[in-house]
Parts: sequence; C-alpha cells; structure tokens
Amino acid sequence: MPELAYVNGKISSIETAMVPVEDRGYQFGDAVYEVIVSYNGHLFALEEHLDRLERSMGGLQFPHISRETIHSSIHDFFKRAGLLRAAVYMQISRGVGPRSHGFPETRELQVVMTVREVDEKPVKHRAEGTAAITMKDFRWGRCDIKTVQLLPNVMAKQKATESGADDAIFVGDGDVVREATSSNVFIVVDGTIVTHPLTQNILPGITRAVVIDICNDLSIPLEERFYFLNDLYSADEVFMTGTITEVLPVVMIDGNSISDGKVGPISKQLYGALQEKINNL
Ligand code: PDD
Repeated sequence: MPELAYVNGKISSIETAMVPVEDRGYQFGDAVYEVIVSYNGHLFALEEHLDRLERSMGGLQFPHISRETIHSSIHDFFKRAGLLRAAVYMQISRGVGPRSHGFPETRELQVVMTVREVDEKPVKHRAEGTAAITMKDFRWGRCDIKTVQLLPNVMAKQKATESGADDAIFVGDGDVVREATSSNVFIVVDGTIVTHPLTQNILPGITRAVVIDICNDLSIPLEERFYFLNDLYSADEVFMTGTITEVLPVVMIDGNSISDGKVGPISKQLYGALQEKINNL
C-alpha cells in the first residue's frame, strides 16, 4: 500500500487514520506543517524544510522535539511507502487536551503525516502559463510561520477557481504584492527579477530560496524589495514558486495579459535550471 498515514508513530492507510477530536490543530489551528516532495526517491531540500519547521514551532512556543526524531520519522515513513515521486505532508500540533484557549498542561506534541503520489500541476499550465486574480490580503500578521490556519488561503483559492483563474495573489495595504495562496510570487522588470523581501507577511518559501540561489549562479539580477499592484500588471513576466508549483508562469492577472500573454524567457530558463538541479539529486 504505497499511500500511508502516520499518527504518533502508528502507520495505517490514510482512510483509517484518526486524530483525537481534542487535537489542538483541529480545534484551534494550533499546528504547523510542511510539504516535502521527492524526485526519483530523494526528498528535496529536506534539511531546509526541517529548519523552517523548527522556526515555525519556535514561533508558536511549542515544546522542544529533537530534530533527529523528526528527521528519522519522516525518512523512515517515506521509505516505507516506497514511492519515487511522493508528497510527504507533516503536521505537528500542540497536542491533545480539553478545549481551552491557553496552552494545555500536556507537553506531548501530536505528529501526523501522510505520504501520497504528487498531485502534479497540469502540463498545459507549465507550457502556456496560468491565470491569477488579486485579492486583499486578509490573513493574520505572522504568515512567516507555516501554520495550518489556511482559511483565507482556502477562500482565496476558491474565489480564483470560481472566477475561472488558477490562483489568487494577496495584495497588502498600499497595494504591496505579497504572495499567492500556496506559492511565492516573482516579477521580471527589464531583465531584473523582483520578489517580496522576507518579512512576517510572507512565507519564506524553500523554492523561493532555491530560485534565488539559481539566479545568483546564473548572474541574473535579483532584488528582494516591495513592489506594487501596478508593477505586477506591467511586469514583463510573472511567475510563482513552491514545492509543488516549482516555477510556474502567470500570464494573465485580473483578466489582463502580462506582456504579450506568453510564457517569458526567464520563467522558462529558471524552470529548466530547477529541473537540472532536481535531476542531479
Ligand atoms: N505551500 N507561500 C505560501 C502561503 C505557501 O503555503 C507555500 C507552500 C509557499 C511556497 O513555499 P515552498 O517553496 O517552501 O513550498 C509560499 C505548501 C506547498 C502547501 O501549503 O501545500
């Protein structure tokens, strides 16, 4: 059975796995998560995901859990499934306790994982680009912590789907472009790539960091700075990055074509460079 679930060390099918009703993640969104994918049997950027997971847990003052424990649980669970191209979802909640807002007495974190085949992005989206809408960023002020409180992201994605688009891009006060519902956003202006700096308003994406490294390696100029809705509309290229997104071009925003509405050369080059990195894992 290649697709599996893990609940505090107990492995079962995904359909039969259960979490207690008083899990803090379920009742309060008091949980953090990571999505890690594998290529050809190798987990991509595992250490970087674990670094971020530790930061997320620290941000919510979770009790300490050793990195070795998390590392070996993910690794063993992933191996057990035997999938070459897998998505491992790991969620750690503050544990289980009678419903009360303050932290519970228990210091037992609850660790849940699933491993599945990757739900790949459509080939057409990669070849021809995607459409996005923009939306006011109505998320909380600590989007740098990867918590399971994703309702605004869920609502925004649903609105995009209902509008015939593929994703929504959050725009903050003063029209600052933040990020998409599960990806970071980049624009290209006159050969320079621009992306939102790391603040509490966006997730520090692992793929974002990989793409920035690639730009440095290829000597493509890149600036981490605020940019605005007008810059997004008038960009030469727009693309998103993420673990499953990889590098995905956006060619239409709020019904307006980006440049000539075709996938641009830098988006193609970066997607190619990322694939090369992946093939060398
Ligand atoms: N999402 N921004 C947000 C809001 C995200 O949820 C994600 C990832 C990213 C990209 O981060 P990374 O490159 O580390 O995957 C940016 C995951 C994949 C998800 O929620 O499914």
